[in-house]
Amino acid sequence: MSFSGYKKFIEAGDLVIVYMTRDNMTPIYISENGIFNNRFGVFHHNDIIGKQFGSKMVSSNYRGFVYLLHPTPELWTLVLPHRTQILYIADISFITTMLEMKPGVNVIESGTGSGSFSHSIARTIAPHGKLYSFEYHQERVNLAKVEFADHGYGDIIQMHHRDVCKEGFQMKDAVNAVFLDLPAPWDAVASAKEAFKQDQTGKICCFSPCIEQVARTVTALEANGFIDITMYECLIREHSVAPLQKISFSDALKDAQERRAKGLPSVDSVAIKRKLSKDEPVPTANEIEEAANLMLVSKTVGETRGHTSYLTFATFLPPTAIQLVDSANAKSD
Ligand SMILES: C[S@@+](CC[C@H](N)C(=O)[O-])C[C@H]1O[C@@H](n2cnc3c(N)ncnc32)[C@H](O)[C@@H]1O
Repeated sequence: MSFSGYKKFIEAGDLVIVYMTRDNMTPIYISENGIFNNRFGVFHHNDIIGKQFGSKMVSSNYRGFVYLLHPTPELWTLVLPHRTQILYIADISFITTMLEMKPGVNVIESGTGSGSFSHSIARTIAPHGKLYSFEYHQERVNLAKVEFADHGYGDIIQMHHRDVCKEGFQMKDAVNAVFLDLPAPWDAVASAKEAFKQDQTGKICCFSPCIEQVARTVTALEANGFIDITMYECLIREHSVAPLQKISFSDALKDAQERRAKGLPSVDSVAIKRKLSKDEPVPTANEIEEAANLMLVSKTVGETRGHTSYLTFATFLPPTAIQLVDSANAKSD
């Protein structure tokens, strides 16, 4: 079952992501005579075999229905068995972009953990790129190897069982990007420097929950000649959308004067007509224009929670480029 490609019909042995609701999905491997039960009823695998990915399926006892989705790295991140803390899609997409991953590039990641990020990296660099994934926990290595092979990434991801902080990556002149999700990434920075392709620039990212870790990582990156060191934090901000009634300046002024005359507190120049409840569909712009003198506005919620980690990025400069900069500096002195 490959995550990279897309197949139309479900067969025995396939991984299917069963979608109940947006917050409730589960992975199942289809087997002949298998049965899947949940609060929506009983689903026989034999009835699933032959259906199209994406189909809606009613349970055999008619208690409800589910959707049968094709696996993708994004869905896998939402349903995978957690063996460690994992990266989620907001961080994954930002890091993938900032590390300039694309088909054909070679990447190092450590540790592998639960393989959440590994799936997205493999899909991005396929079919000719390589992901060298390092993990020092033997059982996690074994499980990751089986999962990567089952998901069609066996040729793209090369698993290594190693403590990269003590033994390094033992790779030279090989990769375009390095991603470190380790408690002490600074201990792996010197070895990462050797692993970069030595004739082009490369990108590194260290993912650390604490600012003290960031400080030590930055010191190690500077000591090893990395440039453009920048730290980001990826936070999700919710926007609540509501229709507001437009009000002209003269009406607002008149309203304010009347309120002052009556000794009432002042209000905003726009009044909230009504707030949408969570389940109510947001009206289209046309509906709003037609219904009344309303406009759709969005407000961010006051508090933004959801700190995962700080993302420290830096650029590797090849030795030839450093020599050029040094000699240009020497001439100008
Ligand atoms: C938070 S998990 C990584 C999660 C992963 N990024 C994901 O998205 O699933 C960190 C992993 O690093 C591994 N690790 C910690 N120190 C290590 C080291 N020095 N060498 C190799 N792996 C290490 C741990 O065993 C753990 O599995």
